Amino acid sequence: MAIIIDEAKKTFHLQTNHASYLFQVLPTGDLQQLYYGARLNEPINLTNLTQVAIQDATPAQEVAGQELQWDVINQEYSSFGHGDFRQSAYQVTSPAGDRISEFQYQKYQLSDGKQRLAHLPSTFDDNQDQSQTLTIFLHDQLAQLDLQLNYTIFPEQDVIVRSAYFENLSTQTVQLPRALSLQLDLPDSDYDFLQFAGSWARERHLRRNHLHDGVQSISSLRTASSHQHNPFFILARPTTTNSAGEAMAFNFVYSGNFLDSVEVDQYQQARILVGINPDEFCWQLKPHTSFQTPEAILSYTTAGLNQLSQQLSDFYQKHLVAPRFAQQERPILINNWEATYFDFDETKLLNLADQAKDLGIELFVLDDGWFGKRDDDTTSLGDWVSDQRKLPQGVAHLAQEIHQKGLKFGLWFEPEMISLESQLYQQHPDWLLHVPGRKLTPGRHQYVLDLARPEVVDYLAQALSTIISQTQLDYVKWDMNRYITEMYSAAFAPEQQQELAHRYILGVYQLYERLTTKFPKVLFESCASGGGRFDLGMMYYAPQAWTSDDTDAMERLLIQYGTSFGYSLSMMGAHVSASPNEQLGRKTSLKTRGAVAYFGDLGYELDITQLTPDQLAQIKQQIQFYKHYRKIFQFGDFYRLQSPLAGNHNELSWGVVNAEQTVAIAAHYQLLNQPQCLNSRLKLQGLDPKKRYQINDQPATYSGSQLMNAGYILPKLTKQEADFQAQLLVIKAI
Ligand code: DGJ
Repeated sequence: MAIIIDEAKKTFHLQTNHASYLFQVLPTGDLQQLYYGARLNEPINLTNLTQVAIQDATPAQEVAGQELQWDVINQEYSSFGHGDFRQSAYQVTSPAGDRISEFQYQKYQLSDGKQRLAHLPSTFDDNQDQSQTLTIFLHDQLAQLDLQLNYTIFPEQDVIVRSAYFENLSTQTVQLPRALSLQLDLPDSDYDFLQFAGSWARERHLRRNHLHDGVQSISSLRTASSHQHNPFFILARPTTTNSAGEAMAFNFVYSGNFLDSVEVDQYQQARILVGINPDEFCWQLKPHTSFQTPEAILSYTTAGLNQLSQQLSDFYQKHLVAPRFAQQERPILINNWEATYFDFDETKLLNLADQAKDLGIELFVLDDGWFGKRDDDTTSLGDWVSDQRKLPQGVAHLAQEIHQKGLKFGLWFEPEMISLESQLYQQHPDWLLHVPGRKLTPGRHQYVLDLARPEVVDYLAQALSTIISQTQLDYVKWDMNRYITEMYSAAFAPEQQQELAHRYILGVYQLYERLTTKFPKVLFESCASGGGRFDLGMMYYAPQAWTSDDTDAMERLLIQYGTSFGYSLSMMGAHVSASPNEQLGRKTSLKTRGAVAYFGDLGYELDITQLTPDQLAQIKQQIQFYKHYRKIFQFGDFYRLQSPLAGNHNELSWGVVNAEQTVAIAAHYQLLNQPQCLNSRLKLQGLDPKKRYQINDQPATYSGSQLMNAGYILPKLTKQEADFQAQLLVIKAI
């Protein structure tokens, strides 16, 4: 474990197994960033790292005979207004209205381990033996403000976790219109920016572009991390591939408005910023109060993008996901949504459950429509009481019946929402986020509860707890189906209105915290019209998420491929649905649908009471197969083998390997059948080069080195197999 501190020179060297991060205190008391990259051995020649050529036409401060040009110097957590004209990490508005800060280094503190944050999801090291935390204390004398910069190293996964903490020691309120979690200044900008962009039903598609001069950013102002941009991104050298090269990843443990930006300056340096989006944010830092930013995660490798994803995944399982669930195999579920939508009764559900049990499914999830009088999406959100018309004996009775069949039982909720046509709205019209006298903007006919108010969180905690207890729930699907508009709350002072977007998310976390503490065994799956809140803030409470509302196998390939860069397979809910597909009408074989959904938390979401005996037999086989290899599918090392962006854009492949390198399962997918093609050659990764392997129980054997370097030539697909095909290879060491 190594955070190496030179007290005399005031330098800090954060060393992980393969990376080094260095900064120092300047004579002004400011912090200068020196290096982030492949691990350096001590002692380090600092003089050479700190050289800075003085520039013309650039403001400078002179301190101890040294000219300091803030626009040139790489920094740790920069302010605006002293001549650094790049975007800053924070801003404080003083009671007089100026935005000038002078935080100066006071001291540091080093401790083993990493504490969880209060009121925010966070990384942790509960045994305090896998990490080391460095806190840098800075103080602004004139403003009487403290600033702490927190750095925790997790050497094994080459991860550094960062956050900032502001405290107002003065007697006057100051404003924080900007308080980001991470700044990283790099000396060059020869990187590709890998982002994961999309839309509803088209989430997290990989985009790769070279950095260009100026600011490039991704962000959200939807009070959710969003379908459109995920708060995860990578900077990789242009030559970096899945299997080789330098790359660094940035992720954010937060579910609301975010900003990820990279600014390439006039010297081709790059400044990276990650944090709460300063638009729609301004915190009133009252006397003797503090503000803690969410955490940002940084990880580095020289071994390619697969390695980067694997070390992140390992990190999440050990230091972010609730330990109870981190390695717990996730149940195979049936979800009634695409099977019935709102149109079901108890008999229909019990028939589905009987069939599910027969197929080997383990968890029955009753989706939207079981409460209030909800026959479509126009009513009843907020009334978490079962609909007597559909479930005459109540949802608790249904739960009992399902449990008696030997299945687990799960329920859908959309806690944050309210319908105008609901009893809750009759009782508390003021609980809905709105601006008095202004028009409301509905989304899916629904409105948003003011979760910034403690009494709303209390009500929801009570309402959900009652149902969870009555039904002895095993699983909760927590949905959130619209972005937030008219963000205003009469419960807060005018100057606090720009705190609301953050306070809303804190309310969501508070509700999650209370429910997961009270019901620690219940598995939560988060959802936001599919993958609209697929982020680490959610994963802290709900270890898996509904990846996308698009269940078409071919669409899912791109979604799951993109998602895999920043998230673990066990975080991705992946269902086999009907063909023709409900969203796109595309027809795919059950084999292909299964082969895509295996790489995640498998579920079925179609009317299994309407299938042919042959289809049922196939599903039974899929479930047996998945159960046999479930641990590898959910927790094995994942390798992206062929990128959808490469080659002929017609193939994609990936695979999982167990820790012992004795079993691997690879899948090759082909979009369209094409004439005059050679057989595809699949180059595997992650095998032991020296071991010998058999494929799909065939007698031929191959060394790991052959399969990884020469590859395995796949059988040619026949005309009959046509488009949208998947081939699965089960590779076992002999
Ligand atoms: C959106 C979710 O993503 C779906 O899976 C389903 O739960 C519907 N909401 C129900 O309204």
